[in-house]
This record gives sequence, structure tokens and C-alpha cells, in this order.
Amino acid sequence: MAPRRASASAVAFVFDIDGVLLHSKSPLPTARAALAAATAAHAPVAFLTNGGGVTESAKARELEELLGSPVAENQVILAHTPFRSLAPSFAARPVLAVGRRETVAVASGYGFNAVSPASVAAAHPHATPLAPARSGAPPPLPPPGVGTSANPFAAIFCFADPACMSTDLQIAIDVLVGGGDLHARRSRTHPPLFFSNPDLLWANAHPTPRLGQAAFRAALEAVYERVAGRPLDADRVTTVGKPTRAPYDLARSALASHASRLGVPMPARIVAVGDNPYADVAGARAAGGGFEPVLVLTGVAERDSTVHPADRVCADVGEAVAWGLAGG
Ligand code: G3P
Ligand code: MG
Repeated sequence: MAPRRASASAVAFVFDIDGVLLHSKSPLPTARAALAAATAAHAPVAFLTNGGGVTESAKARELEELLGSPVAENQVILAHTPFRSLAPSFAARPVLAVGRRETVAVASGYGFNAVSPASVAAAHPHATPLAPARSGAPPPLPPPGVGTSANPFAAIFCFADPACMSTDLQIAIDVLVGGGDLHARRSRTHPPLFFSNPDLLWANAHPTPRLGQAAFRAALEAVYERVAGRPLDADRVTTVGKPTRAPYDLARSALASHASRLGVPMPARIVAVGDNPYADVAGARAAGGGFEPVLVLTGVAERDSTVHPADRVCADVGEAVAWGLAGG
């Protein structure tokens, strides 16, 4: 007689990463067992982070190595994953891709003609006098003519936290003020600007939360207004990342694909485990449609939020998964 198939899970899980599963590259104490329990229960799982600067496949491999459970590329939604669908509308026009790690490779892989601020700075030795002395091999130079009136930057995409606050701020301001032309001193308006991560604070292995992409955005907005003499044009600024809707729509699709691969029906309940009320709780609440925000106290939050209260507050992801699987 064939072994009876384990019954399908009544719940799916969406896991935030930083402050829930990992602190920098270290798994949190209950993370491995929590993911193993969800996997053993045949629960559809997706990973939804405001982190980025790497490919979804690289992040999936990292999670698999650190947490010990299988993770497929399409279970991972990064801060910039929603940018992928925008690449065709920019075609071959150059875009400034702000972000540390492998941002240019990620952006190019999406189909963008991506140029980094460091690459622009390498082509213009006096462009960033405040930047720290560069170490290591210089970045590749942009193609000739990029960022001129003949071939202006069509947009700025912030894929991840800046590689260098000073260089990235200076070059992004040059692109915005010059309307995409690095040598223009003013323009009628600025190119479209895309942010991928509204987090002001996030949790890594440091004892207290660290500044996130929203800190870069606040600096960019304030400096642009002072230099250009007017605020950024709100109609030309787009924000994705938690708590906006786009990543939750992608997470719902990722869960449905995982349920299909598991051969189980898609559960009605989606337990969304996060550590930042302003991103993870607010986002799950706004997404509705079965998302249930559960806050864990291993990251940004030290207690439930009065502004964005969770459905449940747990000490850690292990408790959150046990609560979800027990029909909490
Ligand atoms: O840069 C990453 C940080 O903003 C938060 O990441 O995984 O907690 O959404 P995460
Ligand atoms: Mg987090």
C-alpha cells in the first residue's frame, strides 16, 4: 500500500528575512527548525524582504545554505523584484542603478541598461570630492556618451541601500538636477525616480537597528529641494517594497506556485511573519486577502505597535510557525 500523503497544510507562510530568519548572515536560533516545520507540514512558503542587491536565485541559495531547507528562486521576492516588469519600458536607455552588492548585475539581468554611481564617478574624477578613497579595482566606465544631452539618464532606480552614501547622493543629484544630463545645471523637471524599500530602520547582527533605504531617500529629497529650489515631483516618484501592495501580490503568486509544486491546495490563511510593524504588519494588513500579520520581537520591534498592531506577537519565528500550524 502506497504511504498515505501527509495532509495539506491549512496555512501558508510568508517570511520576512532580516530580523526574523537572519541577523546578517547568521540564522536566528529558531529559524532553521521553524522553516523545517513549515516544510514538513507541506505549507506553501514565500520569502518577502526589503533587502536586495542580489539576484533572487542567489538569495534562495543563501537561505537554503543558512537555513537547511530547500528554497526555490521563485519563492523569493526581493525589494527590487517588482522592477523587473518595468525594464522593457526603458529598453536601451541608460538608467542610474543605485544599490550595493551586485545591483548592476541584477538590473542588467532584469533587462535594464544599468549604470552605477561609482561607474559615473570613475569616469569623472572630480565629480565626488567627498567620497572616501576607492580601494580595489575601479568599476567599469559607463559607455561613452551616457549621461550627456545626447544620451541622458532616463531614470534612477534605487535597487538597494546605497553602496556609498556620498557618491550615490552626489551622482543621483547630478542626474536629477540636470534632467538626466550630468553636465546640465538645471532642467524643467527630473527623470522618474524609483525606490524599492521604504525601511528607515532594519535589523542585522548589530545590537540596534540600522538605517535603511528611507534614510538615503530622505537625504536625496532634502538635498534636491535645496539645490533645485523645488521639491521632487511626486508624480515622478514611485515606491515599491513593503508595505506597498506590489510585493504582496508577487508573494501571493509565489505561494500559489509553491502550493502547486507541493501538490496541495492553496490555503486561505497566509501567516506573514515580520519584525517591522511599519513594513511587515502594515503591508500584510493592507494586502488583506488572507494575510495575517504576526510580529516577532527578534528584530526592529521591541513590542507590538499601537500604530500597526499585529494579529499575534511572538517571541520568535519558531513560536510564530507553531502558532500558525496549530491553527492559531
Ligand atoms: O535592507 C534590508 C532591510 O531594509 C530589511 O530587510 O528582510 O527585514 O525586509 P527585511
Ligand atoms: Mg525584517
